[in-house]
Amino acid sequence: MANVILVGAQWGDEGKGKIIDVLTEQADIVVRTQGGNNAGHTVFVGPTKYVLHLIPSGILRAGTTCVIGNGVVLDPVGLVAEIDGLAKLGVHVTPQNLVISETAHVVFPWHRELDGQREVRKGNQKIGTTKRGIGPTYGDKAARVGMRVIDLVNAARFPARFRERLSENNEILQALGAQPIDSDSVLAEYTRCADRLRPFVTNTVVMLHEATRRGANVLFEGAQGTFLDIDHGTYPYVTSSNTTAGGACTGSGVPPNRMDRVVGVMKAYTTRVGEGPLPTENAEISDLLHGMGREFGATTGRMRRCGWFDAVATRHAAMVNGIDELAVTNVDGLDSVKSIRVCSSYQFEGQTLRHIPSDADVLARCEPVFEEFPGWETPTDGIRRWEDLPVNCRHYLLSIAQMTGARLSIVSVGPARDQTMFL
Ligand code: GDP
Ligand code: IMO
Ligand code: MG
Repeated sequence: MANVILVGAQWGDEGKGKIIDVLTEQADIVVRTQGGNNAGHTVFVGPTKYVLHLIPSGILRAGTTCVIGNGVVLDPVGLVAEIDGLAKLGVHVTPQNLVISETAHVVFPWHRELDGQREVRKGNQKIGTTKRGIGPTYGDKAARVGMRVIDLVNAARFPARFRERLSENNEILQALGAQPIDSDSVLAEYTRCADRLRPFVTNTVVMLHEATRRGANVLFEGAQGTFLDIDHGTYPYVTSSNTTAGGACTGSGVPPNRMDRVVGVMKAYTTRVGEGPLPTENAEISDLLHGMGREFGATTGRMRRCGWFDAVATRHAAMVNGIDELAVTNVDGLDSVKSIRVCSSYQFEGQTLRHIPSDADVLARCEPVFEEFPGWETPTDGIRRWEDLPVNCRHYLLSIAQMTGARLSIVSVGPARDQTMFL
């Protein structure tokens, strides 16, 4: 399998967790390189549903080593809860199957508090964050005032440093009129988490370097999606990390010349959860999918906004990620649609746009130009071979791959492992 970067080619929730789980069969190591527990990656193993937030989806396969890389922002309380939740479902997370980077940044309660406060202050300009403290934690990282996992596990060694940071942050919160943090209870809770997590913590850069030198197959599990990228997304309606392929290198310490290919995951239609422009948003397809009980957020339970497939967006995603291969998921979501629309360009003030405009307010005012494809109007969830898919379905999938500009290699017609076809 070699070293594969998997990214979301849309606005997140493309079905990355499912595809990671399927591809993990051939991987020795699965690495998360950015984001935090804002992610929600759903994997079904038989009837059991798992939703992974910080732990790579590879954890569900025995013999796979999972890595939380340096580019991730880690909420220790959330991670301990996730480990305990998995144990209840019979998945045992140990230092043998999970390692954590010493240099990942730590999410603290004040980051969550600031995340919420900023959203309130923004009013109807809010981003619609997951309120997991992601933006403020990356903000502190960039401002060089953050605390890293190594600081947390060494807090007992350097207690004054830890306390100093707590009081420094309390001053900031008070200046903003936010609730001050009770330093003693934070210290107690984070010390407890540090004790639990210490055996998992290591220098993952060296570990990954040695593994790739030995010829291990490494899968880099992207979180969020291309248009939530801090640089390439629909700023400011984005998350705070590089969700695109380059983030896999900086977030793991594995250099670009060790990467072999990039797989882009996209739905056969478009969804977005949170605020921000979504040019192909459509009430008909939203009602259809929500009526089927689908497209509710895996982390916050919010209803996802839905629309037709946007090939302008996915073409841009192929460009900025260098997508070689495409996995198209949720094909079965369109099974009952008579005529399927695909956006091939935008109209803005009388001009045709073939690339996503950089200004989110311009994008919000773009009118999609659609091409129509005949639907297949037959269930696909029971189909297991590409040749057996209805001809209109194959035509649709090959067309959206061609418009995106990458090779179609995986088709998914249901959440289960076996509802997957390889081309
Ligand atoms: P992720 O964040 O990219 O991992 O995606 P999520 O797990 O947040 O959302 C994707 C949803 O689609 C989950 O509920 C998956 O179980 C589901 N899913 C993935 N692939 C398919 C598919 O081909 N068909 C159907 N019906 N559901 C799918
Ligand atoms: P996965 O990995 C979909 C969205 C939020 C919000 C914006 C910023 O499951 O695809 P944040 O909390 O990151 O500051 O929120 O990003 N968002 C996601 N949307 N899937 C995700 O992850 C997301 N993670 C964040 O809804 O619009
Ligand atoms: Mg998700």
